[in-house]
Amino acid sequence: MAYAAFRSIGAYVPQKILTNEDLSQIVDTSDEWITKRTGIKERHIAAKDEFTSDLGAKAAQKALERSGVCVSDIDMVITATISPDYFCMPSTAAIISTKLGIKNVTAFDISAACTGFIYILSIAKAFIESGMKKNILIIGAEKLSAITDYTDRGTCILFGDGAGAAVISATYNKDEAIIDVHTGADGEYADLLMTPNGGTGSAHDSLEVEAGTSFMQMKGNETFKVAVRTLTKDVKEILADNDIKSEDIKHFIPHQANYRIIKAVGDALKMRDEQVIITVDKYGNTSGASIPMAINDLYESGKLEAGEVMLLDAFGGGLTWGSALVPFSPSK
Ligand code: UT7
Repeated sequence: MAYAAFRSIGAYVPQKILTNEDLSQIVDTSDEWITKRTGIKERHIAAKDEFTSDLGAKAAQKALERSGVCVSDIDMVITATISPDYFCMPSTAAIISTKLGIKNVTAFDISAACTGFIYILSIAKAFIESGMKKNILIIGAEKLSAITDYTDRGTCILFGDGAGAAVISATYNKDEAIIDVHTGADGEYADLLMTPNGGTGSAHDSLEVEAGTSFMQMKGNETFKVAVRTLTKDVKEILADNDIKSEDIKHFIPHQANYRIIKAVGDALKMRDEQVIITVDKYGNTSGASIPMAINDLYESGKLEAGEVMLLDAFGGGLTWGSALVPFSPSK
């Protein structure tokens, strides 16, 4: 039987940095409030002519180079994004494939908000284990600045742009295999985090978009509470299912939404500080890109070694949630 191995990681952030100080010139906020309530100090913002596919392609290029897999051997490209180049079609994954010179490939996007990377990891695992595909490029890419309301201090301080990507390949060595992936969703909480217009579910008669309503809206405080509860429960379940103790996890890489959420979940799971990866201070919340960007930071700092198990955990709009136990298995 073929197993799915997490071979490589790459990430890209646009050059421009938006600091808390900059935001305090735009809305009624302060560096002190943002730092204390979120842990965020700055986030990166893409240029006007820099699209989600550009960020995704740059991250994917790095992941490909590090994987040792030839472009011609990639047989599937999946992008997780809530800020695609085009909302209906074509998919951002198809555009990224072309930018990388990947031909004759299965390419599509999925929408699972901040849990997107864990969803595409589970899809890649399933396609590889079924024998249908051998080398899958998965990409979390977001230009959230394009769907952020910079008059709403409750959301605009949180989000940033960036992308992260990984190559998942078939292996017959079980020690290299992704151990488990859990995913879930509950539409009961759909209104906690949404972009209310631009689709057939809007209150309007046509797809015509009313100014401002394609921006993200969030009931922050309620979302915060559900996030802590769901993330903790989800991690406890995946650890119990696989008979692994939280103290034995080398790297806990949660979705980077808010330092206080990460801290609350880490404490509930009795994680030591050195186990928990934090990048929210540098990048803010980059939704589907946040986990692969954090894995890339860990990799580039030289602290991610072959065979070490990463515990991934995310939560986002939908509501969606997911967790994964993933050994880092670069090609030898
Ligand atoms: O990635 C997907 C999942 N997303 C999340 O999990 C995000 C979850 N939510 C959060 O991270 C937090 O709820 C926020 C950071 C969005 C807000 O923090 P909070 O501690 O929940 O604040 P709050 O909404 O309860 O607001 C507290 C006060 C309010 O003022 P009053 O009513 O107490 O006078 C807000 O108006 O803080 C005020 N406030 C701000 N003040 C300065 C809200 N945003 C700001 C701001 N600057 N940017």
